This record gives sequence, structure tokens and C-alpha cells, in this order.
Amino acid sequence: MDRIIIRGGNRLSGQIPISGAKNAALTLMPCALLTDEPLTLRNLPRLADVDSFGHLLNELGASTAIEGTRPSDFGRVMTMRAGNLSSTIAPYDIVRKMRASILVLGPLLGRAGEATVSLPGGCAIGNRPIDLHLKALEAIGAEIEVAAGYVKASAPKGGRLTGGRYRFPVVSVGATENVLMAAVLANGTTIIENAAREPEIVDLCNLLVAMGATIHGIGSDRLEIEGCERLHGATYGVMPDRIEAGSYACAAAITGGDVELTGACAEDMRATLDALVEAGVTVEEKKSGIRIAANGPLRPLTLSTAPFPGFATDMQAQFMAMQCLTEGTSVFTETIFENRYMHVPELARMGAHIEVHGRIAMVRGVEKLTGAPVMATDLRASMSLIIAGLMAKGETQVNRVYHLDRGYERLEEKLQAVGADIERVGDG
Ligand code: UD1
Repeated sequence: MDRIIIRGGNRLSGQIPISGAKNAALTLMPCALLTDEPLTLRNLPRLADVDSFGHLLNELGASTAIEGTRPSDFGRVMTMRAGNLSSTIAPYDIVRKMRASILVLGPLLGRAGEATVSLPGGCAIGNRPIDLHLKALEAIGAEIEVAAGYVKASAPKGGRLTGGRYRFPVVSVGATENVLMAAVLANGTTIIENAAREPEIVDLCNLLVAMGATIHGIGSDRLEIEGCERLHGATYGVMPDRIEAGSYACAAAITGGDVELTGACAEDMRATLDALVEAGVTVEEKKSGIRIAANGPLRPLTLSTAPFPGFATDMQAQFMAMQCLTEGTSVFTETIFENRYMHVPELARMGAHIEVHGRIAMVRGVEKLTGAPVMATDLRASMSLIIAGLMAKGETQVNRVYHLDRGYERLEEKLQAVGADIERVGDG
């Protein structure tokens, strides 16, 4: 299994191109199931999760074709076409490898009037139930049965969903996406209240509109969707990855670096940029991207994760790594997922001083981190170890690289280009 080796201490300087957003890609791709016409997505990141989603679409009868991009290019263009669906079942073997597979539930139900999707089960960052996905779909007319580890959903008499009104008790990105994708083909209007407002949801709404859907309130927490009988194909560019951009911003900051994140969109990551400024980092918004420059010592932070526009839970681990070398005490509160401090013991093995009390983690800055063999059990936790490794003395070996490959397109190449001493090594 591959490992990433980092020899810390190099200051990062130069440009890092930001890829298309993984989490947007994973909700735009299932939209191919909503029409028999082709859907072409540009700027899709080259990631294991995107490949897996392509395989899932194939399983359901959709074709996927990657167009003329060279292996050296970042991003890809993929055309998907679900002329006819050959199956409406997302099997356990695929769903267990990629939680986002649950996002075929809404579009299959909307298009075919039925869907059978394996329950995703627990995952590394907590329990992650899908009850809200199911309640929201029920509210717009779906009949739902859960048996033998599968969710079986159908529209009344195998036809179309009715539309309806649903108020989320808790903000859920995935459930908002699923109900949106189902509601666009319903035979009626749907109103979603307390909807997630993440930029990836806006990207999804914009694609659905490009496919012929009518959605009011895009970007707000109240979405009104007028269902229609059919949608058409579209060509659409995936938004830049705000979490990738934020991760490299933390990497630049911990090394005292000066990096331009080309193609990043500041509006999508305001809370991340505000936190960087509060930590003493210079943030310059440019036409071409965002410049991140860290000149002096960083300041401690108090951060609490929250749904957008709040501070993203997907940025918590990377900020924590960055704050390990900051003089003073930083306080993190994780309000979204109950088990999202798994990077803490690994950072501690590198010399970090972090105390966890339930949902709160207190980071007391230390003078130095020391390289060590480490591993993490989820994507963002793995990235936090990379960030710590970039400033640790000696060699850090990050194992279980497949987590990083799920979410960071050519991580080591991008970091090498700005001066990091980082390489991927195989076992052989
Ligand atoms: C998405 C992102 C993930 C990010 C998260 C929060 C993708 C592929 N993943 O995950 O990277 O960390 O948003 O920004 O886009 N919940 C329930 N019942 C449900 C659904 C959710 O109780 O049916 C709870 C979850 O356990 C969690 C909270 O709601 O505590 C938010 O989860 P949600 O926004 O749904 O996260 P995901 O869509 O899974």
C-alpha cells in the first residue's frame, strides 16, 4: 500500500491550482439519472470517489465517457448518459465503499418511481444516519420500506412523486440534495425549509436549472421546486473545491509560506478565510484566486463548526494541525459529527498537545512537532497529518493514502510544485 513521506520544514511558495469540488461532483453526477439525454460535466476532479460514482452509474445502466483530457491535465470532462435505466438498485458492495452512493436514491425515485439502496452503515466520523433523507422523501410522496439492510422507496402506484413540504429539524447537506433531485421530477411543488445552504447545494440547483428545472430561493434555506415531467441534458462546470483550497491555505500558513490558490472562490469559503485572518494570516482576494501569506507567528483561535455559512466541519482537522505550533491555546468545538477528532492521537504522536473533552478540543501550542509514522481513518484527518508533517522536524510517513486519494487530486504533485519535500512511495 502506498505511503506519503514528508520531510518537514520547507516554506511553501508559488501557485496551487484548485480542482473541481469533490462534494459537488458527487451530487452533480447523479443528476445524469434524471434525464435520457447526455450530461457533460467539466472540471471533474480525478479522484477515487468520482471513479467509484462513475461505476455506480454504469451499474444502473448509464454510460460514462471521459473526453480528450491528457493524463497531465488537472480535471476531466465526463459525459454520462442514462438513456434507459437497467437497474434501480445500488448494492451494498458499492454503497459501503462510498457513502455518497446514497445520493442516487432521490434521482432514481424521481425518474423511475422506484429505488433500492443499501443502507450505508456507520462510518469513520460517526454514526451518520439517513433518517432525514427518508423523512424528506416521504414528505414529497415516497413510500419507504427498510428491510434486510436496504431502503426500498417507491412513488405512489409506481408513478411520480407528489411534491410536498418538509422542514428539516437539523441541517443536512446530503438529505437536501436527495430531496432536491427527487422533487424536480415530481408532479407538484415542493417546499424545503431549513435546507442546507452549502455552495455545493447552490451548484446542484444551478445544474438542475440548466437541465430545465424551476427552483426558487437558490442559496437560501427555503427552496421551492416546481416539479416538471422531464429534464434535458446539459453541459456544466463543477465549482472549485473550497475544502481543498482551505486545506492548502492551512498548509501555506503553518510553513510561513506565500501561496496563491488559483481558481479558488473566496465567496464560498468566507468562514475559512475569516479564521485565517484572525490567526494573523494575510488573505488577498485576486481575480485569479486567493493569495495566502503568513509572515509572523500565528495567533490562537476559538472555532466552532456549523452548517454553511459557518465554519465547515470539513476544515476542522486541518486548522487543528495548523494551530499545533501556535503559541497559546486554541479551542475547537465540533458540533456536526460526534466522532471527528480521530486525528488527535496521531497529532499527539508527532508532539502536539491536545486535550479532548467530548465535543471540545483544546490545543496548546508547542514549539516543535516531530515526524513520525502516522495514519488516519478519514479524508480530512489524513490531510491534517500532511499539514503537520510539512512543519514537523524530520520525516513523517502518512499511511492509508487511499483516504487522501478519495479527496485530493494529485496532492503530492501540487505540494512539490510549491516547494514541499513530499513523495509517494509504494511497498514494492
Ligand atoms: C456532507 C459532506 C461532508 C460534510 C458534511 C457536513 C458530501 C459527500 N459530504 O456529508 O463532507 O462533512 O456534509 O458539511 O457532500 N444527519 C442525520 N440524519 C440524516 C442525515 C444527516 O441525523 O439523515 C446528521 C449527521 O449525522 C450530521 C448532520 O446531520 O450530524 C449533518 O450531516 P450531513 O449534512 O447530512 O452530512 P453529509 O451530507 O453526510
